[in-house]
Amino acid sequence: MFRKTILCIGAGYVGGPTMAVIAKHCPEYKVVVVDINPKRIAQWQSDKLPIYEPGLDEVVFATRNRNLFFSTDVDSHIESSDIIFVSVNTPTKTFGQGAGKAADLQYWEKTARQILKNSSTGKIVVEKSTLPVRTAAAMERILNSNEKGIHFDVLSNPEFLAEGTAIADLESPDRILVGARNTDSGQNALEQIVEIYAHWTPREKIITSNVWSSELSKLVANAFLAQRVSSINTISALCEKTNADIEEVSRAIGMDSRIGPKFLKAGVGFGGSCFKKDILNLAYIAETYGLTEVSRYWEQVVEINSYQQDRFVRIIVNSMFNTVAGKKIALFGFAFKADTGDTRESPAISIAQSLMDERAVLSIYDPKASEGITPELVDYEGRFSVEHSPVSAADGAHAIIIATDWAEFRDYDYSAIFEKMEKPAFIFDGRNILDHQKLYEIGFSVHRIGRPPLSRLA
Ligand code: NAD
Ligand code: UDX
Repeated sequence: MFRKTILCIGAGYVGGPTMAVIAKHCPEYKVVVVDINPKRIAQWQSDKLPIYEPGLDEVVFATRNRNLFFSTDVDSHIESSDIIFVSVNTPTKTFGQGAGKAADLQYWEKTARQILKNSSTGKIVVEKSTLPVRTAAAMERILNSNEKGIHFDVLSNPEFLAEGTAIADLESPDRILVGARNTDSGQNALEQIVEIYAHWTPREKIITSNVWSSELSKLVANAFLAQRVSSINTISALCEKTNADIEEVSRAIGMDSRIGPKFLKAGVGFGGSCFKKDILNLAYIAETYGLTEVSRYWEQVVEINSYQQDRFVRIIVNSMFNTVAGKKIALFGFAFKADTGDTRESPAISIAQSLMDERAVLSIYDPKASEGITPELVDYEGRFSVEHSPVSAADGAHAIIIATDWAEFRDYDYSAIFEKMEKPAFIFDGRNILDHQKLYEIGFSVHRIGRPPLSRLA
């Protein structure tokens, strides 16, 4: 009935949305997403999907049980598929050689062995996860060192979607990148992958390369994006010393077409599951090839990110008369960016921890990430509360901190919120998203990133 069966191993932030969009545009393909986590699969099969992503529900509900299926039965679906995307997690290694930097490839290797064990015919295996350059060589060795006489083609097809805009990014990507071996079989496999995306992506946006360029490009794209955030954040520190305004500087440099306006928003630094992990991985790879200077260069991007968060906390404590001990502080936003419920590596985590180390009592509100708060702050139990409205979070607080750029934070009735707060009341806008002049007129002392404070206490 279906022309081909596509399998995706790993039903996470990438696997779920990517396969849903493929299923939508390729009704003649059967698309199956498997995961070892039964809870996650049950959620994908339910009305409440495991991740919040604008537009995702619509695509999944339209394709599920038509040509999109979710399952925990990894083994049998391997055997019945033609193309296998592998989208398992590749976190930073926490032990042994390269701990804290290198990618932990244990899930990856297990998957390769599982594919081999359950295949009686050759298949196309596609790296969807972000991986160290040359991982495909290891994958090929594991898969093709079999005694069954079957051949696997290993391709690289990294995913560039960003959370919060995943569906829009998948529907109209800047580019699709597919890397393959320059052999007949490799090029034939490459055509089959290109053909999937060509259902909805203009051909000129589907670019092909050798496997290693494709693997490396993904790490480099994330490194360049994060580097821009760290670069603008270093300048925000300089702005605070010189009375220059970071928003004005960003605008002025961003209008240079060679620089461009995106990813120049100063704030509390980058979070998310990818940037830090991928830059450290890139730095580690450079180090293993003896390229120490290259490695140091990229590590600095991550160091500046921590510096920015420490700096923000210092501004908060210094402005609040050098002590926050015993003070209630409202934290608005815990997700690592707006429009996602994901809290992985969120700047809010280190900000919350540092403030609780200073003995502040936090009340935390996030429109979509409530569930992630307590697990991220396990060591701080009893020193924070998770609130279900901004009003209750700010009630009796000395300060509000904006840690995530949720649009709804702009629309709150800050006059009413101000009334219920301790005075003097502070706002620390770590994302520079609020109407600062209006807040100042209400009575707040307003501190922001890279811009002079509007302080009532000077
Ligand atoms: P995730 O943790 O949300 O999902 C990975 C899933 O793989 C988990 O549900 C896990 O249970 C499953 N898994 C692990 N081992 C398995 C196995 N042997 N068999 C079956 N399932 C298994 O991760 P993610 O955010 O989707 O990221 C996946 C990969 O994509 C990573 O390499 C990441 O760097 C990359 N990536 C992520 C994003 C993003 O925005 N999150 C964007 C681009 C690329
Ligand atoms: C990133 C890449 O953008 C995406 O291509 C890749 O596939 C996965 O990693 P993601 O982490 O989901 O995506 O979000 P992104 O929009 O890149 O934001 C990352 C972090 O940088 C967020 O914490 C965001 O708030 C921050 N950021 C981004 C800034 O602080 N300033 C900016 O100008 C842009």
